[in-house]
Amino acid sequence: MITFSLETRTFYLETKNTSYVIRILDNGTIAHSFYGSRIPQEDISYYNIFREMSFSPQISVGENQFSPESLLLEYPTFGRGDFRLPAVVVQGTDGTNVNELQYVSHKILNGKPAMSNMPQLDVNVENVQTLELVLRDAIAGYEAVLYYTTFDTSDVISRRTVIRNIVDSPILLKSVCSASFDIENSDFDMITLHGSWARERHVERYPLHHGTNSIDSRRGASSHQLNPFAAIVGKDTTEFFGTAFGISLIYSGDFRLSVEVDHSDTTRVQIGLNPETFSWVLNPGESFDTPEALLTYSEVGLNGMSQNFHHVCRNHLGKCADPNLRHPVVINSWEAMYFDFDETKMVKFIKDCTDLGIDTVVMDDGWFGHRDDDHSSLGDWFIYDKKLPNGLKEIIDTCHNNGMNFGIWFEPEMISQDSKLFELHPDWCIHIPSRKAIESRNQLILDMTRPEVVDCIFEQMCRILSTYDISYVKWDMNRHMTDNGSLALPCNRQGEMGHRYILGVYKLIQRLEEKYPNVFFEGCSGGGGRFDFGMLYYMPQIWTSDDSDAVERLKIQYGTSFAYPPSAMVAHVSACPNHQTGRTVPLDTRGNVAQTCSFGYEFDVGKLSYEEKEAIKAQISKHRQLEDMVNHGTFYRLRSPFETDCCAWQLVSDNQMQSYVMFAWRTSSPHPKVQYLKLQGLDPQKYYTIPQLGITRIGATLMRVGLAIPMPTTVDYPSVVFDLLSE
Ligand code: GLA
Repeated sequence: MITFSLETRTFYLETKNTSYVIRILDNGTIAHSFYGSRIPQEDISYYNIFREMSFSPQISVGENQFSPESLLLEYPTFGRGDFRLPAVVVQGTDGTNVNELQYVSHKILNGKPAMSNMPQLDVNVENVQTLELVLRDAIAGYEAVLYYTTFDTSDVISRRTVIRNIVDSPILLKSVCSASFDIENSDFDMITLHGSWARERHVERYPLHHGTNSIDSRRGASSHQLNPFAAIVGKDTTEFFGTAFGISLIYSGDFRLSVEVDHSDTTRVQIGLNPETFSWVLNPGESFDTPEALLTYSEVGLNGMSQNFHHVCRNHLGKCADPNLRHPVVINSWEAMYFDFDETKMVKFIKDCTDLGIDTVVMDDGWFGHRDDDHSSLGDWFIYDKKLPNGLKEIIDTCHNNGMNFGIWFEPEMISQDSKLFELHPDWCIHIPSRKAIESRNQLILDMTRPEVVDCIFEQMCRILSTYDISYVKWDMNRHMTDNGSLALPCNRQGEMGHRYILGVYKLIQRLEEKYPNVFFEGCSGGGGRFDFGMLYYMPQIWTSDDSDAVERLKIQYGTSFAYPPSAMVAHVSACPNHQTGRTVPLDTRGNVAQTCSFGYEFDVGKLSYEEKEAIKAQISKHRQLEDMVNHGTFYRLRSPFETDCCAWQLVSDNQMQSYVMFAWRTSSPHPKVQYLKLQGLDPQKYYTIPQLGITRIGATLMRVGLAIPMPTTVDYPSVVFDLLSE
């Protein structure tokens, strides 16, 4: 719900539990008044103190003289007295970066205007309203149109900005945020998700310092290294108590998320494209759309913040919100065979999976061109006849005859120098003619800014997807970007390359999804290198990490859940000793850790014993019991693997009739202490039976007293699970 008070020129944006209040000052500047728990629609203009500051220029507004940097602002600019980070920098018609945006008009719209070329929260949603706020700098020659949409039940406000050239000569957009807002104090910690290949989204918490606290990517992808997400939390905020702002971006390329604390201890929060790798020429009449940012606020701790993100993702984000969505249980050939397979081996691999309950067998890397290792064939999306002389027919028939579907791996954005495509089009890779292009994993990146490149890959993929009955595609992206330039762009537009690349990728996915609406797409980038809301819009699950070790996965999945729901995380049971860490973890712990996500396997079933196969059948049927909670329930983090030697999480069904608790130990210890665990999210008045403990207790008891969990001492890396069932 959005309302405007004419008298105080104040906008009140409300969701179920939050209020966001902004105000038009007399000089047309937009001030930020408040973001937090829901408040009455009173005049809170007294809260914006106008004051003069030393070494800070003063401007007059009506009777008042004040320094712009003394104010909390909404979409600030550079060069007119606010020395903090600007939300937008346009090199205007006068050649300077001095900008000053002033209110022109506004509209309160029912629903949400759509963007044509980027992933975004749904536009056709009931009870959603959008504030469209038009600001103008006539001297620099542009308008900034700010869009705020309130997603009531998710407690999320989405924001994006459109920059429009309003003069008859080009202007240069040098940096642009999707969202910016100020908070009146700086007594916060910042939580971000850092990592590396095979170690994604580890949680890091640190106090804000004066100056800029920022995370970003200039790798051409949202990255394993720093996820486009941050929480700004009170010093005493925990998983269950205290205040938390959450910020994220629906985008898969370079971003910057900055939190600046200034000399008055106010905090400025911004998210948008990374200005180091971005600029955009806007010709007369042209406009530029930023990606959409997501903001949320919780006063019930970090779980509350995460649940808001999970809710908006599962209810309003593209494919994730598809009511017919069903995540298949898959088995993937990668860790079972890597590149070493042919038709005979693949057929055996499929037959070995029969009757376990698996939905889809995925043939991973190595089926195309002449690919025997990672040195060749990317870009040649035709069947490798030495390995698969009969095409895919025999393999797919074997899947179908044994009650399973077939899925296939592509890495559409890449090109190997040893490929037919490279022979034909050596200039299609991203490179700078005067420099030798740098390879990573022996491959180069295709210039997806060029429509002819997108067309060629689209056609090649269509040939495979139209010839064969394929129900699932794993979309990979196995290197980061260097030599950031495009032969298709003139010198003054090279700064557009990174964003145009991502738009080209989105276009390709969109075209394929429109043509093959029944194909399920899974995202991947060397594991979880592009785990972001942009990709999730098209692909409702992403391979969370190339590290399939269950003990490592505790941290990775716990961290990922800060922003993304468990249904978005793909987790597979893989072989032991684990291929990434050499660790041996019991099969039931591997199952327990993976089962609360989008579930599957990643090993050679033919090598398993009868007992292990029976255990897998049981795991899959357990996952079937849990999947409704995984996809629609509420996820609680109970015990942090970053702060303790254990990890626990809990799922609760929407109707609070069912719940499931997973508790795992990350190390073994002699004479271990009993773990006491208070549960969350239950109906305090309902009785719950816990078959594993043989007890029935009231929700209030389970939440206030909790469970006592002794550590099983007979195995390394044990885990236990508890079902809670209410009648
Ligand atoms: C990436 C993926 C893996 C696998 C390989 C194939 O690393 O994350 O799951 O598909 O590529 O080359």
